[in-house]
Amino acid sequence: MKIGIFNGGPRKNGRTAAVTASLRNRFEGCGAVTEEHFLYHMGIKGCLTCGTKSGLENARAMAREFASCDLVILATPIYMWKMTDSLKAFIDVLCAVCKDEDDISEKVRGKRVAAVLTTDVDENVAADAESAIELISEILRMDHLGSFILPFADLDRIGGEECQSEIRNFADKIMKVRS
Ligand SMILES: Cc1cc2nc3c(=O)[nH]c(=O)nc-3n(C[C@H](O)[C@H](O)[C@H](O)COP(=O)(O)O)c2cc1C
Repeated sequence: MKIGIFNGGPRKNGRTAAVTASLRNRFEGCGAVTEEHFLYHMGIKGCLTCGTKSGLENARAMAREFASCDLVILATPIYMWKMTDSLKAFIDVLCAVCKDEDDISEKVRGKRVAAVLTTDVDENVAADAESAIELISEILRMDHLGSFILPFADLDRIGGEECQSEIRNFADKIMKVRS
């Protein structure tokens, strides 16, 4: 199984990346092949029509990569009650590529997708981002498997047994679901 993680957080050593690293650990322990893509570091951010040419090209390449995965994770810290600009810019391009390219659109349809959201406060602040990802899953006719929302995110807490156990359970849940 090929699992792609599309991380919209700018901090490669941040809390969102700590959650996705633990998820990857579990996935790989179960025999999956995983790859994490840090969108911000590929120049995928803000409005790509006004952004860099390479940012747009990278986003298109990532859309094809997304289409090639068996399971995808959309990961983002919550910034000002929303997903990051990087994840939003990637989703914008993914929608455009699906509209223009029938073969990609076909591969994205039915795609198993899950979300990882981290926040400093309680999980209510992630509601907008969670429903935006649910909506985009519906629009692209993907199979949305659920969201892992980590409120009061903190590296020590993420490393703790309780959180690690929650992450393992989430990983197992989304790996088991078959479309
Ligand atoms: C610019 C900015 C805006 C943020 N806005 C929110 C917010 O609206 N609600 C919230 O709970 N946390 C907010 N946070 C905190 C982050 O969501 C939280 O610290 C997150 O776990 C950081 O993940 P990271 O380490 O992967 O960047 C904000 C952080 C930054 C830098």
